[in-house]
Amino acid sequence: MKIAVVGTGYVGLVTGTCFAEVGIDVTCIDIDQKKIDNLKQGILPIYEPGLEEMVSRNVEKGRLHFSTSLAESIHDADVAFIAVGTPPAKMALLT
Ligand SMILES: NC(=O)c1ccc[n+]([C@@H]2O[C@H](COP(=O)([O-])OP(=O)(O)OC[C@H]3O[C@@H](n4cnc5c(N)ncnc54)[C@H](O)[C@@H]3O)[C@@H](O)[C@H]2O)c1
Repeated sequence: MKIAVVGTGYVGLVTGTCFAEVGIDVTCIDIDQKKIDNLKQGILPIYEPGLEEMVSRNVEKGRLHFSTSLAESIHDADVAFIAVGTPPAKMALLT
């Protein structure tokens, strides 16, 4: 089972890391290159108790990956979760 999580913020990083913790192969994707570079070095953009240790443990076990490439990361995923930000304005379809 492979999961792709698109958007590596509060929701995406915690969700993806928890799936990796239970043994699933996860790639967390984000458009923010700096955020992905930092995560690859073990530097997290948010604080949640125990999350840093959980991220590093799963990266070491080869179950948690970080990428800026949606195309490369999603093609062999069985499931993709979208966890990008919600637009603050009304959607065009609703107006
Ligand atoms: N944080 C919460 O407690 C919470 C609760 C309920 C619902 N939500 C919803 O969950 C979603 C994510 O919330 P969050 O708090 O994690 O937001 P966040 O801002 O922390 O993270 C969103 C991430 O998505 C990335 N992103 C934006 N566009 C992208 C794209 N096209 N491709 C890849 N990455 C992209 C951003 O760079 C950012 O890192 C939102 O829709 C929010 O409304 C959040």
